[in-house]
Amino acid sequence: MTDAAFWDRIAPKYAKQPISNTEAYEESLARTKTYLGADTTALELGCGTGSTALRLAPGTKRFVGADISPGMIDIAKGKVTDADGPEFRVGGVDDAVFGGESFNTVLAHNLLHLLPDLDAGLAAIHRNLPENGLFISKTPCIGGRWYLRPIIAIMQAVGKAPFVNFLTVEQVDARIAAAGFRIVETGLYPPSTPSRYVVARKV
Ligand SMILES: C[S@@+](CC[C@H](N)C(=O)[O-])C[C@H]1O[C@@H](n2cnc3c(N)ncnc32)[C@H](O)[C@@H]1O
Repeated sequence: MTDAAFWDRIAPKYAKQPISNTEAYEESLARTKTYLGADTTALELGCGTGSTALRLAPGTKRFVGADISPGMIDIAKGKVTDADGPEFRVGGVDDAVFGGESFNTVLAHNLLHLLPDLDAGLAAIHRNLPENGLFISKTPCIGGRWYLRPIIAIMQAVGKAPFVNFLTVEQVDARIAAAGFRIVETGLYPPSTPSRYVVARKV
């Protein structure tokens, strides 16, 4: 099963799932909003069913959410009620998703650990941002949770889990920096978990 097919299958269920920690979610959203403004042209990769895009789009010049799963994008499009709301499109983490447009901000929430080739994805993001462009991400880092590996392997074997990269917080920071970004802010949301928030600028 492809990753897109996996996410398509679970899209309706994913749309109904409540946010696991609303306080941490709101805090990270508030941090992100400090980087967005009337000049922001943003592309959110792996936007899922669009909940975060709908929260971040107001006040920006342009906000596009993209996801590899057409099922996720269909649900996201159905949530847009405002003509000034975000636009949604199907796309992966590659050059094509930019559609030849220039975005000065790229966001990726709960996505980087799902990329089979993280460095290629980061390179595409870097290549398509202008100098000083922003890359804001939040990534579950389960590299230290060795006991999850056999569980996830069994789930993958029966089509119940997608590809997952077991990254550590240090690896996420290092791979973003190695792709040509200068890290300007990091955090953990919630603080007691390895959910790594990184704001970086293209250098
Ligand atoms: C864990 S969900 C996160 C969704 C949303 N960003 C959030 O934080 O709730 C991961 C999302 O990434 C999408 N995805 C997985 N692999 C992808 C890829 N290579 N390119 C773009 N999106 C991808 C999935 O379809 C899914 O919607």
